[in-house]
Amino acid sequence: MEQGRSGNRKDTRVEITTFDFEEHGDERGILISLEENKNIPFTLRRCYFMYNTQPGVSRGFHAHKTLRQVLICVRGQCRIILDNGREKAEVLLDRPNKGLYLSSNIWRVMTDFSEDAVLMVLADQLYDEADYIRNYDDFLAWVRETGEEA
Ligand code: TYD
Repeated sequence: MEQGRSGNRKDTRVEITTFDFEEHGDERGILISLEENKNIPFTLRRCYFMYNTQPGVSRGFHAHKTLRQVLICVRGQCRIILDNGREKAEVLLDRPNKGLYLSSNIWRVMTDFSEDAVLMVLADQLYDEADYIRNYDDFLAWVRETGEEA
């Protein structure tokens, strides 16, 4: 379904799914199109982005109960740390044609933002604070209860 999908890489217990989005390039430059249920594997309900992230700042530190997201660093670079409650993995987002899929059962930290970084997030639900798990111990308990480690 997803064009340019690079597939699941199971080198750690954390399942990492990245996308290489098709670039429509010509002498004018490059255009990337993102479409729900095509190269984005869900229905798009929300888009938000972070920029002007201050040096040394890390964001996130939460998981979601049901939300699914795709992260794209459309300018600059940043590092995403994924944690399924047992293992951690890191993904460097350093080009605008790379997407990282995040399922709900992952504790995520966004870090090492370059000064020019613009991190865009596509999500399948509207903002809902009730969907957040913001306490790490709660996350571990939730993973144990649901058996949903990735
Ligand atoms: P926060 O959850 O702290 O961001 P992060 O997880 O990246 O560290 O969100 C920062 C603020 O923005 C907070 O007041 C909630 C608000 N917010 C929205 O209003 N809508 C959204 O879609 C998101 C993601 C956050």
